[in-house]
Amino acid sequence: MTQHTLARSLPDRHSSRPQERRVARRLVDVAAKRAVPLHWTSLLSVVSLTCLTVLTITGVVLLAFYDRSTDTVIYDGSYALLQGVPVSRAYASTLHISLDVPGGLLVRQTHHWAALVLPASLLLQLLSTFFTAGFRRPRHWSWVLLFVTFFLALGAGWSGYGLPDDQLAGTGLKIAEGIVIGIPFIGTRLSFLFFGGEFPGNAIEHMYWLHVLVIPVLLAAVLALRLWLAAQRPPPQLPGLGRTQLTVVGLPLRAIAVRATGLAFVTTGVLVLLGGLMTVNPIWIHGPADPASSSSGSQPDWYTGFLDGSLRLVPSGWEVEFLGHTIPLAVLVPQAVVGIFLGVVLLWPFLESRATRDRDPHHMLQRPREHPVRTAFGVAGLVFFIALWAAGATDIVTHVFGVAFEHQVVALRAVVLLGPLIAFPVTVQLCRALAAAERDQVLDGVESGRILRGAEGGFTESHIPLRPERAAIVARGRQ
Ligand code: HEM
Repeated sequence: MTQHTLARSLPDRHSSRPQERRVARRLVDVAAKRAVPLHWTSLLSVVSLTCLTVLTITGVVLLAFYDRSTDTVIYDGSYALLQGVPVSRAYASTLHISLDVPGGLLVRQTHHWAALVLPASLLLQLLSTFFTAGFRRPRHWSWVLLFVTFFLALGAGWSGYGLPDDQLAGTGLKIAEGIVIGIPFIGTRLSFLFFGGEFPGNAIEHMYWLHVLVIPVLLAAVLALRLWLAAQRPPPQLPGLGRTQLTVVGLPLRAIAVRATGLAFVTTGVLVLLGGLMTVNPIWIHGPADPASSSSGSQPDWYTGFLDGSLRLVPSGWEVEFLGHTIPLAVLVPQAVVGIFLGVVLLWPFLESRATRDRDPHHMLQRPREHPVRTAFGVAGLVFFIALWAAGATDIVTHVFGVAFEHQVVALRAVVLLGPLIAFPVTVQLCRALAAAERDQVLDGVESGRILRGAEGGFTESHIPLRPERAAIVARGRQ
């Protein structure tokens, strides 16, 4: 481990002279940037970047064979069961990639697996950043950009999912149309704009440009901005021996780069293995899209499940009349609730900074137990999100485990409403208990399990002093 400690003669960061304060801050930054603290959560960003690279490379290969046209052709490829069936060119070309182009299925499935892993790695980054307070000043804009990256990845996944024009894609588009049309006053116009007329219109054409051009360009811009922001300041670190606001303990950047490259190769290998061994989105089984039909068990990719789940939990047919318009509350209420939830997550750094009046820069991260209220909000939000997500899979649970759909919906409604309320106080208590136990260990040492008998005949347990690394973590916890 390399330790970059600032010279003692540093100007005082809290000096009353602005000039001196500026110099001190600059020196802190320069010194700290030379070492990078190593933590397993840093690996998540390598996984995300690798997924994006794999998606771009495989995506460009797919471009060479994919046809975005929805004109109807008679299928005459090698899949016997569909021969002679009228299908769109988009569907026929994706079948051709899968079953006739050598290595095509491997490329397509690798693309899809990378699209499944990317949001998972981004979600874990969001969670680890939240629970370690990595969003505090001066990293509040990095949090916003991370959130935007997550949403762009969802948009890319959703738009890609529609491109093969198979039955699952059609069902997803139909749900999207229902949601857009449900928006009061402007819904129908918006839907016409996106679909270019009556459903399904030119949706595939529009999604194509969104998927292969608009979203990738936006993603590249957001990532570049995040990297630029990260380079402007010292890397954040968790409390530990020798670590302070002014002192970064970690590996030299070059050593980190070597490890990151290794992990990138491993991630690519795993994605290619998954693409080669595990079937994903078998469109030849789903059949071509048909606006008039949708099979049970039609599931979106996992990352959009929470949106689907929110729609399933409201009473169907819930609507009111207003100014001669029908307002479909069954569609609007879930949208509003999920929208508010996501808005709070996006703006959390600003809300917390305002509530706690904390506008200081923080380069030290916090452990979840050191801020019980924030952690409790995080766990409550997570319970809410997981319940919505589970609601998105109710039909699969009914199909596989035979649990009645209606029973699941009632149970999950209870979890959505009461789960966060229960999770909040339980988490606060748990954090406080963990922090108190740690403080006791600092004062009294760790129980050794050795019972000693004193001269008077009484029994006492001997305690071992806490290891210095551990003591440093506990001591620096509240920065
Ligand atoms: C964040 C980035 C991306 C994500 C999450 C993503 C996701 C997806 C998904 C889920 C599919 C459906 C795959 C399937 O058929 O099973 C797809 C298809 C496709 N993607 Fe992407 N993609 C991304 C970037 C790109 C890029 C950069 C390109 C091209 C430059 C591209 C080109 C394509 C093409 C041509 C298809 C249609 C062929 C097919 O479905 O197999 N993608 N994408």
